[in-house]
Amino acid sequence: MPEYHKYNIFGNEITLEVPMSTFLLAFVGALTLVTYASSLGRFLFSIAAGSGVPLTSFKAAKGTTYAIVTGCTSGIGLEFARQLAADGFGLILVGRRQSALDDLARELESAHKIRALSVVADAADPADLHAAVKRIADIARTVDTGILINNVGASHEMPVAFHETDPTEIDNIVQTNISWTLQLTRAIMPLLVARSTPGTAPKSLVMTIGSLSGRIPSPLLAAYSCTKGGLKTWNTALAAEVQSKGVVCTMVFPAFVVSNMSKIRKASLTVPTPEKFVKSTLGSIGAARGAQGRMYESTPYPAHAAMDYVVGIGGNVTENIAVGVIHSMHKDIRKRALKKKQRELAAKKE
Ligand SMILES: NC(=O)c1ccc[n+]([C@@H]2O[C@H](COP(=O)([O-])OP(=O)(O)OC[C@H]3O[C@@H](n4cnc5c(N)ncnc54)[C@H](OP(=O)(O)O)[C@@H]3O)[C@@H](O)[C@H]2O)c1
Repeated sequence: MPEYHKYNIFGNEITLEVPMSTFLLAFVGALTLVTYASSLGRFLFSIAAGSGVPLTSFKAAKGTTYAIVTGCTSGIGLEFARQLAADGFGLILVGRRQSALDDLARELESAHKIRALSVVADAADPADLHAAVKRIADIARTVDTGILINNVGASHEMPVAFHETDPTEIDNIVQTNISWTLQLTRAIMPLLVARSTPGTAPKSLVMTIGSLSGRIPSPLLAAYSCTKGGLKTWNTALAAEVQSKGVVCTMVFPAFVVSNMSKIRKASLTVPTPEKFVKSTLGSIGAARGAQGRMYESTPYPAHAAMDYVVGIGGNVTENIAVGVIHSMHKDIRKRALKKKQRELAAKKE
């Protein structure tokens, strides 16, 4: 015969086959299981089928729509320019090297029969900031500008303790990642708002390339991590302001991608080429993927999405573990970078 447990709850008598404490524990356990299962389901669905907002939503019904891409002469930015041109967008190319911009404009125009305009600007130069932003906005105003890809970014030469960081390097990172991005977006946003139609096409898009270092505090890249974390907060606030006006603001969170900045030359399962990374990003605009539960954010590349998702799964516990893991990874990268620098110095002396 099972033992019954009787309880009086708000004047109602209930009978349980198990003690109330066991019942409550089982209930909380089941709820937790359902929460995690549905979150995992959403994550997997988002990777497998979450294709997001199609690029065509950002095109005007008539004529050519233009995309501004900053830092477009190598790495991730170069791929954004190439893939957007292949999709029929005109380009406003922004970079610091005139000859590289000219070469790229010629390549895109002949390969995709689009028009590519260019603006030379050094995003790290505070003296030219407002003039450079005006040069870009003046060109953007002459065409139908529907997309702004805030891609340009600066990081540390190598992982370094914050108190040992060259103050000029901090200036460079803050200027490029924060001041430039905010001022350029401030200048372009009125054009995007004016052309977009809430609820239907054309929408406009501001995509800001962040970093998992802005999602997980990254020791030995503290200044970089700070700027990408700041952009994360800024993007969410901005996205909420303009969503009802038909402008999609999304922040993208890459881990390592093959590029000059990462100094990684060989692609692997977790380190995609810029081509693969951008394909996955443009194919899932607005889909959270690894950034489950975070509004207006996306970790599009599947391996990066899995990292982001796992870090978030246990809240503060897993996030704190991730900070420790990143700290030791950066210590290791610094050791190897210093050794490489010593070898290069020795070779120069010979
Ligand atoms: N690669 C990664 O592992 C990784 C990971 C997380 C986040 N990200 C983010 O992804 C974005 C692109 O990085 P990436 O890896 O593609 O870097 P990259 O290969 O070094 O390319 C950076 C691009 O920006 C340009 N640029 C750099 N400083 C500039 C300045 N002061 N003014 C104007 N243009 C400038 C470069 O021009 P030049 O051709 O003249 O050098 C280049 O076209 C950055 O925001 C970065 O923080 C990258």
